Order: sequence, then C-alpha cells, then structure tokens
Amino acid sequence: MCGIIGIVGTQPVADRLVESLKRLEYRGYDSAGIAAQVDGVLERRRAPGKLKELEKVLAGHPLEATTGIGHTRWATHGAPTEANAHPHIAGRVAVVHNGIIENFAELKAELIAAGRVFSSQTDTEVVAHLLDSELATGLSPLDAFKATLDRLSGAFALCVLISGEDEVILAARNGPPLAVGHGDGEMFIGSDGLALGPFTNKITYLEDGDYVLATHDGARIFDATGQEVARAVKTVPASAVLMEKGNYRHFMEKEIHDQPEGCQRTIAAYVDTLTDQTTVQGVDFNAIDRIQIVACGTSWIAGMIGRYLIEQLADLPVDVEIASEFRYRSPALRPNALAIAMSQSGETADTLAAFRHCIEAGMKSAAIVNATESTIAREADVVWPIHCGPEIGVASTKAFTAQVSVMIALAIAAAKARGRIDEAEEKRLVHVLLEAPRLIAEAIGLEDALKEIAAEIAKAKDVLYLGRGPMSALALEGALKLKEISYIHAEGYAAGELKHGPIALVDEATPVIILAPYDSWFEKSASNMSEVMARGGQVVFITDPEGAKHAPAGAKVVVTAPASDPLISALVMSAPIQLLAYHVAVVKGADVDQPRNLAKSVTVE
Ligand code: F6R
Repeated sequence: MCGIIGIVGTQPVADRLVESLKRLEYRGYDSAGIAAQVDGVLERRRAPGKLKELEKVLAGHPLEATTGIGHTRWATHGAPTEANAHPHIAGRVAVVHNGIIENFAELKAELIAAGRVFSSQTDTEVVAHLLDSELATGLSPLDAFKATLDRLSGAFALCVLISGEDEVILAARNGPPLAVGHGDGEMFIGSDGLALGPFTNKITYLEDGDYVLATHDGARIFDATGQEVARAVKTVPASAVLMEKGNYRHFMEKEIHDQPEGCQRTIAAYVDTLTDQTTVQGVDFNAIDRIQIVACGTSWIAGMIGRYLIEQLADLPVDVEIASEFRYRSPALRPNALAIAMSQSGETADTLAAFRHCIEAGMKSAAIVNATESTIAREADVVWPIHCGPEIGVASTKAFTAQVSVMIALAIAAAKARGRIDEAEEKRLVHVLLEAPRLIAEAIGLEDALKEIAAEIAKAKDVLYLGRGPMSALALEGALKLKEISYIHAEGYAAGELKHGPIALVDEATPVIILAPYDSWFEKSASNMSEVMARGGQVVFITDPEGAKHAPAGAKVVVTAPASDPLISALVMSAPIQLLAYHVAVVKGADVDQPRNLAKSVTVE
C-alpha cells in the first residue's frame, strides 16, 4: 500500500528520494515525506496530499544530505495529516513503514507506561520508539533492530535511519515486498524494482523475515533467525523499470492503448504461433478435478470470465471466489484441485492468504501475475506470467486483458488435454485467440465515439451495466472502472437479474449500458434492452455489426465493436468500457491515475 525508499548514496539525496517516490506513488498518495541526517541530527520534511506538496515544502526548506529514507502513504491508522505522515521520529530513530503492525496498541500502551510520548496516531510510531528504547540499552544498531523486529507482529516492510550512524540504513521485510538495489559505492532499498529503476538494475529481492544492514560497502542480509545469508542479485531487464507516459495524458490512457501489444506478448507465451497449438506448461489438466481461482477486484473479474470459458470448453469445474471472503469462511477444500491466484501485483494480502490456504490444503498451485518476483509468484508451484509490462494507472486495464488472455489459453489447453476438442479445433481456437490483439486495436479505434458518449454519462448520478455470459462479468468490470475513477455510482448485473431488483432503478436519468455481442445470449440481452427502454431508460448498446443489425430500435446510442468469436469477445469488448470510464473521468476532471482513497497494491487485508 505505502511505498518506501532508502538510499545510502554519494549524491544529494532529496531529489533522488522524490524521484523514486514518484515511481511509488501508485501505492498510495495520502501524504509523503523524507528524512536524512544533517550533521548527525535527524531532519525530515513531510506534507499531506500528493508528492507535489512535499516538493513544495522541499523547495522552501531543502534537505541536504546524501543518505536518507522516504515514504508515500496510503493511510491505515490515522488520518492523512502531516503529523501522521512518515517518516516517524523518536529519539535517535527515523522510520518509514509499509503494512500494519498488528500489536501496535499493546506496544504503544507499554511504551507510554515507560514514559514515551507519541505524536501521531499511526501504528508505525511504535517501531521508532521501540528501536530507540533498544538502542538506549546499549545494543548495537543491528542487535537493537533485531530485538525490535522480534516484538512486532503483522505484515510490514521497514526502512530506518539512526542518528549518529551516518551512511547506514536498516531495513526489514515481513510480508510486503522489499528490494535491495546494488549501486557503485551506493545501496538502495525500495518497495519494488520500479522504485530503484533510476539508480540501478542490479536487484536482490528479500525473502520474508529478512532484514538488512546497508552501507556504502554493500548490504548484509540476515534471515528471520538472525543468520547472515546470501541472496541472489538479479539483473532486471530495462522494460521492467520503464515508466513513461509518452504522449498520453495519463498512464491509464496509455495502458488502454498498450493492450494490443500486451495481449500479443502474453498470448505468444502460451501458444505456438507457427503451429497454432497451445504451449501451456506446468499442470496436468487430467490430474485435477477442479480449479479454484482466488483474486480481488478486477483480477477476480478476469477469473470469472475464465470460468465461463474453461467450464464450457474443457468441462472442468471452476470456482472463482473473492479472496477476502474465501480466506475466512472455512471452504470445503479438496487436494485434487488446482488453486490459481490471479493478481497483477502478486502482493494482494487477501489473495496471498487465500492462496496459502489452498496450498496448505495440499492443492497444486499456479500464479497468474504480472510481477514475477512477487510473493504470490514465489509461493506458487507454477507461474503463468502476463506480459503486459508494468501497470502504473491505479485502475487496471492492460493487466486485465492480459489475464483474460491467459485464461483463454488455459481453457484451450485444458480442453485439448482432456480430450474435449481435437487438434483441428485447438488450431481453430488458437487462431481465433491470435486475432484478438488486432481486434482490440480496432475496438480502441472507437475512442472518438466513446468520448462523445462519455460527455453524456458524466452528467449521470447512477449507471447500470448489464450483460450475459462472459459479458455479465464484463458488466461488473465496466461498473468498477467507472466508479473507481469518476466517482459515479455504477452497478454491474447479469442482465437476467434485471427483473429481480435493479429494474427499479431504471428511469430517464439512469444510463443503462448493455454489453451484447451477437452470440448465443444476444436475443435475451436484446429483450432486456426492450424492457429498459419501455421504462424510459437510456440505453447505450455496445455490440458488434451483426448485433447492431438485430438490435431493437430505440437505443440512445449503439456502439459497434468489431465482430469476434465468443472465445475472445470479452477481450474485444473490454476496450470500449475502459475508454468510456476513462473519458467520463477526464470530463469530470478527476485524477485518473490516482483516484481518491485507492492504491495499486493492496498489501493490507
Ligand atoms: C481495479 C483494480 C483492483 C485490483 C485489485 C487486485 O481497477 O485494479 O480492483 O484488480 O486490487 O489487485 P491485484 O491484481 O494486484 O491482486
């Protein structure tokens, strides 16, 4: 959720910390701050709000040092005020933190009883006081840090400065990810490789429980037992640390336009483009009797689309569940299932916990992730990466279509392995899948028309999205995209549910967006469209050329996406709903890439 950075450097540190925080701002943007030692004294600059507020503070009050720590916050404990902004300082210690210290209340009570005075409402401040207390007993910084870590429970990544210990940073990982960057006489600590991109591409990903002492000479890494350990240094490809908007106004806009390429790269990883056969590795689809997908948000919706396709093509039962529910409801698990965690970031706390639950039940596990160094990826038996490149916009777009692309490839591979389709049908389906990037590009070409519709939708207070089959899942995604970036209330429904409640919402002021390509569900969706119009509803009918021909008259607007096989229609229809949400948010002047209250990587439950 929050982003943390630490630099033991040889150049002025403030600008470098801010540069790195810009790359971490997608993780949270409620407040930001940095700290450094100036002549052996800890100093900090903090500001509520986005990073640009901190930049203004720094312009008036520069912080001159070469070693420092920084933070961008997604508030958990305490409002997004300056007092609650990190770094938190107590005595000799400054600390930045990502995650939650679960036992902070009891630690805080103990520290207050010992005479400590707190200046924030955060859970983080206990870490600063605890470490300062341990240092006061005469322990070395490393031993005091270990003693502090041993008292903390919860999920956290920490980065610490200690006054009097110039050119040293301590850091620890217990849950949320942490990367160590190796420079030339410099060391870096960051929440992810992206944060370290401007400084180095030589990165060590810490294991859970690791803690680190970083100096100009390198990083000493210790495991949870206090044993010094060697961890691999990886050279990260340049594409993994690239973060450019190009000519686009927003990352989300760029990422929508990146989709043909992102899907093409993803599909090419799971099919042989010469033979039109699937190349999915790692799972014997005859050795499992069901699939359990766990995920959150948009990733969960990608799993729902996958369920339609896998069950239909491969006759393999698929359960898809919201991870936060799954992990706490004692599901009846059977070891003969395949657990799939679907997660762009690979760090979503609920998805990880639900996935571990499946692994503990003896299931084989597969991770569909964008971040291949993430915790979920590392805990899985099999990793099926999506290859869409880093996704920066908080609202997921290109990761979603890449996830759906993997789902389609899995459905074909499972169907083939289980003898439900022959080689000719496999080739036909793979050929259809390979057409998807071109058709997505064509659908993106509808942008101007969607921009016009967006100007109307932006006036609405409520919007309904309807669809059937995979389009019912996409209706949920359309509503989620719209509400998260434009703050317009939106609901997605399986169109068949219309008469069971939501039709009561239909009136002249409520746009109803119906997703209905000309497939086996079309007639039913068209009937729902008539029912909406009979009640004065304003229908935006998103369909394909054949659907446009057969649509009942009276829609306010018909959007004609390219014709596509039902196998890939969810991919092709994604672009119009993403573009619609994007342009509504632009019309409303909303902060598209950093919508309020949200963060890209949700590492708290
Ligand atoms: C919505 C969105 C979120 C994420 C969800 C899961 O646009 O991006 O709903 O899909 O937070 O995140 P990951 O996929 O990283 O597990």
